[in-house]
Formats: sequence, structure tokens, C-alpha cells
Amino acid sequence: MCFFTRLSRFKCSDACVEILITFSIQCLAGLTRGYLLDIMKEELYKKAIAVLDANFQEGGFTIPSAGLYPFQWKWDSGFIAIGFAHYDVEKAKTEMRTLLDAQWENGFIPHIVFHTENDSYFPGADFHQSELHPLSSKKYRSTGMTQPPVTGFVLQEMYRIAEDKQDMLNFIKEEIDKVYENHAYFYSNRDPQDEGLVYIYHNWESGTDNSPVWDDIWKTMNPPEYTFVRKDTTHVDASQRPTKREYDHYLHIIDIAKQNNYDDAKIAELSPFLVQDPLFNAMLIKSNQALVDMYIMIGGNEEKIKTILKWQSKSIESFNNKLFDAELGAYVHYDLRNEKPIRHITSSSFSPLFANIPSQERAEVLVKTMMNKFGGEDKYLCASFDPTNDRFNPKKYWRGPVWINMNWMLFLGLKNYGFTDVAARMKQDSIELIEKYGFYEYFDCRKDTGEENTPGYGGNNFSWSAALFIDMVNTP
Ligand code: DGY
Repeated sequence: MCFFTRLSRFKCSDACVEILITFSIQCLAGLTRGYLLDIMKEELYKKAIAVLDANFQEGGFTIPSAGLYPFQWKWDSGFIAIGFAHYDVEKAKTEMRTLLDAQWENGFIPHIVFHTENDSYFPGADFHQSELHPLSSKKYRSTGMTQPPVTGFVLQEMYRIAEDKQDMLNFIKEEIDKVYENHAYFYSNRDPQDEGLVYIYHNWESGTDNSPVWDDIWKTMNPPEYTFVRKDTTHVDASQRPTKREYDHYLHIIDIAKQNNYDDAKIAELSPFLVQDPLFNAMLIKSNQALVDMYIMIGGNEEKIKTILKWQSKSIESFNNKLFDAELGAYVHYDLRNEKPIRHITSSSFSPLFANIPSQERAEVLVKTMMNKFGGEDKYLCASFDPTNDRFNPKKYWRGPVWINMNWMLFLGLKNYGFTDVAARMKQDSIELIEKYGFYEYFDCRKDTGEENTPGYGGNNFSWSAALFIDMVNTP
């Protein structure tokens, strides 16, 4: 018997009937709303797939965003492969295979692989001149700097997502040693004090390219005024991108590396930028663990497992001793050139959650700091820079906006430690931002920007926003 027939037979007062009818209408409205939301999400899901497929190139790699970023970027590629793994496993494998194919003979993996000629980006292959390094790839031109070490945990994520586990394991067997060699490169060449913490020598190696953290380093430098033609500001509003003077610093550091043929020991000695970055090192630690797990699954490889575990315990210990700032309640960057911590809170400060680095007690401190400074109800999680700091800028590249790749890592990290409510909000906020603005590169963290039509920022149809939306929607 249907609910309404029961209702008509049920003898009760008018008030009671009124309550029941109101309740039923609300249930129906709720169901309709839920249904509409599902349809919207389904449409968005299809759009995410369309973004990724449109950005996939014939050469077997995916550009982050047409025009603005026309080549293959290392950490973008990793996140992109995670998205592909959900619906086109062959593309996911191709993406990683192509990236790892550009590895240098010393294990280094570059930040940009210039697969094609394209003059819509500056600085391109002719500026970087990777061929200066004697062990650089003979097959691909690239930059002479790297980006966060995503490849280890990406292979593991691809295995988690894959339906055909054996097929994915075969793929992992084919590629895993390249990731191991890449980590060996980091520990042998990027850790001059043998601390288990590797340095980056350029802000572009951090991935968080224009973070206010680097302002402290720029103050120690006085680069020449370069003459060059920016291309990024022809694709994106200049107010969302770094300044000309910031670019002078970026180019100057590359010039010093080039004058020394990208020799790591020389860079460690001479680069004005030498930083132990919490995000970069957390991703290395996360990828170390992934390598151990995957080698165990494959079987054998005892020596490699032993070596990784040795790197890992030293790295985690130094990370906790050196990079945690108890007064700020967060992990911070360390300026290795000038031997001092850079005491600002960024979304990178919370990334150690993703790699299981802090104790449970310290994780609670981190989440408290995050929620106090970044987590107000008037904001979407998670701003890339401390909203209470004078240097915060909600519109500018890494100086405040929300980035989906950071939210994805924090979502998983929060789940690791059992912060299920905050993790759910991280996911919900990410989805809401994409629903509201589209698949942009970065987003305003303010729910009310005071403007009528705030756009998404940076590149549109941005690959990792699409890829990690796909993964988050599929991850409870
Ligand atoms: C850029 O050109 O801003 C790139 O992100 C560098 O990686």
C-alpha cells in the first residue's frame, strides 16, 4: 500500500496531517535535489574525462592546459595518470611510460619534457639547454631542473585503481627500477649534509612556484634585469601570475646552473636558492614507502628494499626534527643556503599527513593549525598560503588560491590519521569549487569575494583538476 493511501486511512488531527504532508513534500524535494545533484555530478564527470582526453597528445603525454602549458610536466603527469587509470588504463600507462622514458642516465627526471616545438611558452628548450649536462637524455630536450617525486606513489595508486591487477603489476615491474634510480639520484646528489632531506635549487622544482615563502630568498639576491618576452601573460591575466622581477630571479638561478652544466655539486655550492621543502620531501617519503610496498608485492629485490628503508628512517627522523616549528604548529621550509628556517605556514606545511610523517599527536596539532588559520566557514579549504599573513593574495599563483592537487593529498592525509570530518570537507570543498567555477588551475578560497563574477584562475580545462576530481569522486 502506498504511503499516501496509508496516510488517507490514518486517523489523526488536522495538525498531524499537515505535519505529515509537509514532511512528505520535503522528502520528495530532497529526492529531486539529490537526483539533480547526481545528474550534475555525472555531467561534470563526463566533462572531466573530456578535458583529459582533449589534453592527451599524439606523442603519448598530456599537456596541463592548452596554450599556457604546452609540454609534459613531471608532477602534472603523475596526477593525470591517476585520473586516466579510472577509465582508460592504457593512457595512464602511456603517460607514465613517456615521462620515465625522459629520465637522464644519472636517474634524474626533468620537470618539463619538451616533446614538441612550441613557441607559446617561455622559457623553452633553447633557454634551458639540458644538453649541457653530459648525462641528459639524448632522446628528449628538457629543463635541467626537476619537480616533486610523484612517480612512486602514482604507480601504487594506479595499482589500487586498476581492475586487472596482474596487468598493472606487469607494468609496474617494467617501470619501477627507474623510480628507484630516481630516488637514488636524489639521495646521492641532493643531500650534501647527508641528513635524509633533499634540496631543491629552484622555486619551479617545488611545484609551488610563486609561493610567498620564496620572497625571503629573493631578498638575499639581486639578479640582473633580463630582457625577454613573457608568454604566460598572453594566456592568463597578469594579476594572477608572477611579476617581471620575480621572473628575473627565476632566470638568474637557471643561468647559474647552466654556467655549471647543471652539475649537482656545483649547484649545491653556488646556487643562491637551496631549500629543503616539506612538500617535496614528503612526496619523496610517500614514494619511498610505495616503492617498498610494490617491491614486496613483486618479490625479491631485498637489497633495494633495505636501501630504501635506510633512506626512509633517516628522512622521517630529520623531517620531524628539522622541519617542524612547534611555535607555529606546522612544518616549514628550511633555507639551506642561508641556514635558517623560513617561518611561514603554507598548504605544504600539512602535506606530511599524506606521507604518514607526524605522530598522531603532532597530526592533531597540524589539523588544529589548519582549521584555525585556513578553515573558517567563510573559506574553502585549503588556501595555498596562510590567509592571516600579509603576503596572502587570494588571486595570485600559489600566493593564496586553492589547488586541487594539494587538496587531494590533504584529503588522503587527513583520512590516514582518522580526521574523517575534515577530510570530507576537503573533498566537498574541492568538488564545490569545480562545480562553481569549472576545471580551472586554481581557485579563490573566499566564499564571498565581494565581486559579482569571480572567475576560476590560471589555465582553464586544467588536466590535474579534472584527473583528481575523477579520483576524489571515486574515493569514499
Ligand atoms: C610556469 O611556467 O609557471 C611553470 O609552472 C613552471 O613549472
